[in-house]
Amino acid sequence: MALRQIRTLGDPVLTKKAKPVKEVNEKLLDLVDDMLETMYEANGVGLAAPQIGVLKRLVVIDVSPEGEEPIILLNPEIISTSGSQTGDEGCLSVPGKSGTVTRPNEVTVRAMDLEMNEFEITGTELLARAFCHEIDHLDGIVYVDKVEGELRNVNSER
Ligand code: NI
Repeated sequence: MALRQIRTLGDPVLTKKAKPVKEVNEKLLDLVDDMLETMYEANGVGLAAPQIGVLKRLVVIDVSPEGEEPIILLNPEIISTSGSQTGDEGCLSVPGKSGTVTRPNEVTVRAMDLEMNEFEITGTELLARAFCHEIDHLDGIVYVDKVEGELRNVNSER
């Protein structure tokens, strides 16, 4: 496994639409491992492949407190949503900032696992927010486009 460089706002790769994953091979499995390692090292709860410069529809998420429940989504699609939540959001590609974004409170995603089997997963609250945020990355959308009001500086000393 290896850490990958996280691309930051202003890098054109973050505005591009990613392409579907067509097969799971050794290279893709290595990519997934690297994404997980990179996300955990950066204390993130989600990372999309375009954030490390790879235009594939691949997302890793882990919203568990100890970082031991990784969710790996190939070719994810949001198939239903309900409710809404308004809260703080940040992104590893926009270091030191956060902003208020309204998202659905419950989100169901259809995706493929590492055996290319289709599955569905439903998340609420933070997980629902992470699904929306990371899937947006696959379409070249960064949350700053959806922020209500101003981006704020995150005081890391707090
Ligand atoms: Ni992000």
